[in-house]
Amino acid sequence: MLSPQITVRAHTNIALVKYWGKENQDLIIPMNGSLSLTLDHFYTDTSVQFDSNLKNDIFSLNGNIQNNLQVSKFLDIVRKKANIKLFARIDSVNHVPSTAGLASSASAYAALAAAASKAAGLNLNRQDLSKLARKGSGSACRSIYGGFVEWVKGYDDDSSYAVPIEEELDWEIGMLVAMVNRNEKKVSSRAGMQGVVETSPFYSAWVKSVNNDLINIKDAIKKRDFKLIGEITESNALRMHSLNLSATPHFNYFEPMSLEIMQAVEKIREEQNILCYYTLDAGPNVKILCQQKDAAIIKNELSQKFSNIEFEFAKPGPGIKYLNK
Ligand code: DP6
Repeated sequence: MLSPQITVRAHTNIALVKYWGKENQDLIIPMNGSLSLTLDHFYTDTSVQFDSNLKNDIFSLNGNIQNNLQVSKFLDIVRKKANIKLFARIDSVNHVPSTAGLASSASAYAALAAAASKAAGLNLNRQDLSKLARKGSGSACRSIYGGFVEWVKGYDDDSSYAVPIEEELDWEIGMLVAMVNRNEKKVSSRAGMQGVVETSPFYSAWVKSVNNDLINIKDAIKKRDFKLIGEITESNALRMHSLNLSATPHFNYFEPMSLEIMQAVEKIREEQNILCYYTLDAGPNVKILCQQKDAAIIKNELSQKFSNIEFEFAKPGPGIKYLNK
């Protein structure tokens, strides 16, 4: 028996207000809500087909067979929900620029959740897809939707999911991504955030501050106040990274080049009066939130200063799409 082969495209998202810590590690319930922007430039295409002839799941990423237990564990959730026992063939292709180092669990699990559930015969709505994707990787629950997306914290499996804040953005903004390093992260986000929850003396202050960030950034989005959105984004990222510095053992994701780019962004902002703000996730790449009209000037300025670094501009992107019927 062969299920239909379903192919889904999901775009990655970058959090402006970060998720950094779990209240429940099995279900991936976060300690706080978060808010992101989905990007058009970086995405994953994933096809899933269940097949009664298979003896185990076969997962290929960019054409190479992987031994990935996490993917099979995730498919177990789908199999249980659909009440099937078949294994699947999963083909995933990450569309990121060759040197991006942005291989993202967010687009990966959003695409996998949508493709696998449909191939298994489940007809989940987007809210249920968001809950399912969350169990693969927390940030994936936001990649179900396009534009600005909030992950509502919730308190159990059923109440923790993403909601679109503004999917079709009629706003010319985007992110300039500085590809500082494409190597594997030193500390995975999963291990990093757990260490912080358990040991940072600043953790409760972080959670409190994020709740304010969320209220203020949603208000700023509504009012189209780009400056305020940028200020909240940059400050929130620095607070997240200060948790890492305050953990035991301490760790950080910065490379010297990340810090230099951060300083250069501040300088462009101060000296040229251009609104641009940086954010970083569990790696050294710097993402610069800016308005599309300023992207070329900022890119030009930074490329001159950092001639070894590639910069890619990404506009807001859409939610998941089924690529076949
Ligand atoms: C820094 O979603 O990768 O990008 O739920 O353990 O898979 P798991 O973590 P993951 O963490 C993302 C952390 C972040 C911030 C964010 O995207 O909100």
